[in-house]
Amino acid sequence: MLDQITELQEAGLRAVAAATTTDALEELRVGLLGRKAELPNLLRGVRDLPPDQRGPAGKAANEARQAIQSAIDERVATVAAAELDVRLRAERVDVTLPGRPEPVGGLHLLTRVRRQIEDVFLGLGFDVVEGPETETVHHNFDALNHAPNHPARDPGDTFYLAPSTVLPPLPAAAGAPTTADGGPLTRLLRTHTSPMQVRIMEREDPPVAVIVPGRVYRPDSDATHTPQFHQVEGLWIDVDITLADLKGVLLSFARAIFGEEREIRLRPHFFPFTEPSVEIDVSCHLCGGTGHRTDVAGHPRCGLCKGTGWIEILGSGMVDPNVLTAVGRPAYDPERVQGFAFGMGIERIAMLRYGLDDLRPLYENDLRLLGQLA
Ligand code: PHE
Repeated sequence: MLDQITELQEAGLRAVAAATTTDALEELRVGLLGRKAELPNLLRGVRDLPPDQRGPAGKAANEARQAIQSAIDERVATVAAAELDVRLRAERVDVTLPGRPEPVGGLHLLTRVRRQIEDVFLGLGFDVVEGPETETVHHNFDALNHAPNHPARDPGDTFYLAPSTVLPPLPAAAGAPTTADGGPLTRLLRTHTSPMQVRIMEREDPPVAVIVPGRVYRPDSDATHTPQFHQVEGLWIDVDITLADLKGVLLSFARAIFGEEREIRLRPHFFPFTEPSVEIDVSCHLCGGTGHRTDVAGHPRCGLCKGTGWIEILGSGMVDPNVLTAVGRPAYDPERVQGFAFGMGIERIAMLRYGLDDLRPLYENDLRLLGQLA
């Protein structure tokens, strides 16, 4: 029996040494030492041996079992470490690769452009304020020096609100548009952000430097007009504010939005509430102000600025003394303070910046299109 034990031990140790996986070693453990294995069987047969052989045989069988057990334990430790190595190498994560986050949505182009505009003026020391979208005819037209028969007041150009049964009545200027039966029209959806010029001066003393982003409404609808759109108004009132300040501020704005190379020019214009009034053109960012696409073969005429090298971006001017007077506060005595105002369309700035020729898709919210305007 001793020979048999030695043979089993040696065969077992050889098999353990040859095993290369933890799975194989587990199989060997069951096969060599498990309940049905040969060695434990031999051990059970020890009690049938003559008494003088039991001791040495039992001892040898026990030692053989322990030898195999510890050989398996050692081998498992080695093989498991090797297996872990292989796995770590196979599953290695390259932490330097850029992440692939799920798209989580983003801000609408118009929101982003509004914020860019706000950032520029915040940097120049302007505050950002908002105002009501339903306005009084007084703030939208009268106080802004529009004559009672000014064409912009026509109900074809302005959304009037039906006379209110809840809000207190307001006085109406003689000669201004009325309801079909001659009733007063005193409230409307603001047609521009300019009424906030008046509201700010009504409630705050000079100096004031604010911009007013917000929705405005006009009954227009085509590729470049929607009945609701967005403007940013600007107002700076102090002593000694001049047209040169206006030009400096708007040059900074144009360069921040359209590129450091841009120039601006002031073109005479007319608005009822500024005098003098100017339209601001920025040199074309597509052709560098040359009117020709030097970056395209044959140098064709630039389609964006129509070959002029200039693009109109906003209306502005020095606040008309009549507007300061209409505020009705001594702090805005036109002999003492003056300033400038400007108003721009956010859609227009966005279309110019992103080369869009139709603004309606901006309101259709097709993410396949909006996602491209990053
Ligand atoms: N409110 C004018 C418009 O909507 C723009 C403007 C604002 C012009 C301020 C001059 C000064 O066209």
